[in-house]
Amino acid sequence: YEIYLNGLAGQQPPYSTSFAELERVARERLEPGPYWYVAGSAGIGATQRANREAFDRRRIVPRMLRDVSVRDLGVELFGRRYPAPLLLAPIGVQSIVHPDGEMATARAAASLGVPMVLSTAASHTIEEVAEAGGPRWFQLYWPHDDEVTLSLLQRAAGSGYDTLVVTLDTWTLAWRPRDLDLAYLPFLRGTGLAIPFSDPVFRSRLERPVEEDLNGAIIQWAPMFNGRSHTWERLSLLRDNWDGPIVLKGVQHPDDALRAADAGMDGVVVSNHGGRQVDGATASLDALPAIAAAVGDRLTVLFDSGVRTGSDVVKALALGARAVLLGRPYVWGLAVGGEDGVRHVLRSLLAELDLTLGLAGHDGPAGLDPSALEAS
Ligand code: FNR
Repeated sequence: YEIYLNGLAGQQPPYSTSFAELERVARERLEPGPYWYVAGSAGIGATQRANREAFDRRRIVPRMLRDVSVRDLGVELFGRRYPAPLLLAPIGVQSIVHPDGEMATARAAASLGVPMVLSTAASHTIEEVAEAGGPRWFQLYWPHDDEVTLSLLQRAAGSGYDTLVVTLDTWTLAWRPRDLDLAYLPFLRGTGLAIPFSDPVFRSRLERPVEEDLNGAIIQWAPMFNGRSHTWERLSLLRDNWDGPIVLKGVQHPDDALRAADAGMDGVVVSNHGGRQVDGATASLDALPAIAAAVGDRLTVLFDSGVRTGSDVVKALALGARAVLLGRPYVWGLAVGGEDGVRHVLRSLLAELDLTLGLAGHDGPAGLDPSALEAS
């Protein structure tokens, strides 16, 4: 009603509530390199499209004459209460779309109590982003130098990040034709390396300071963070050195989810990185039900890839996710309006989720299960 009442007073909303329209405006304002780095995907975009098709294929079946006038979007994750089943997905190098980068995102998220998952590839440091306050989780791109890994974990824990998200699907960058054709990779320009570059152990590995020899630092960074995967046995290093919950991101097979539980992990994010890694991979929403069924209550199942509307959130929750992570749409908000733009995207999605839940006959996330959808 806020928007309609402002309209009565002759005030038009500053941003569109359509995320596709926000993306269009962002595209007009950004250079092709940054725009396509965010919008693009792996290969011919088959999985990015499949992520959306999987949502579009499923339909909510609204129920009537239920008292849903009082609704509560809140959820509990790992013993902590959050205002909604929504988090901001870890997205690196945010300063390529707005000079305030992750700081703006963190402030917007904090103002709404929505957790932000800070990327290892952020353009601001762990400590800077912590100053925004609000619930914060840390996403690890897992280095091949254990002392650097432990230093990152210590810095994150020391700055109040309570949950560790370990991304498994991006141990090397996939074939991304847009970035290749534009020869644009923000990391190679140094953007997105604030976290390793500010790390004392990483810095001790360098022959010359980052400030004097950027290329030398990038050459040191690349093989440490890229090029080969860790293996299941290695998870004990993280388990032994992180006191809070650990969530594995990029899980797409039920057996991998079960192995995560066996390894003492607390959760998984069912995700294909927004279609940016294996083109032709299964749609994330299609992978979700079998994973949720396999792990039961052994793990907390989170979800991302393709979430664009409140209905999408309802569908993912109905199919077994406890909460979802939002990706590209908030980056378009950041690009067009900085902190305000991110807040606008979050408030719009939360309002749409609240209305959709209520109109479908549910008073909160807890009541959702597959029966909320058409039988598939
Ligand atoms: C990402 N993603 C990502 N994931 C991660 O674990 N660490 C990271 O640094 C990044 N960086 C990143 C940059 C950009 C520009 C995008 C678009 C994505 C993946 C992200 O966390 C999430 O899985 C997807 O964005 C979800 O898909 P949608 O919502 O964008 O379709």
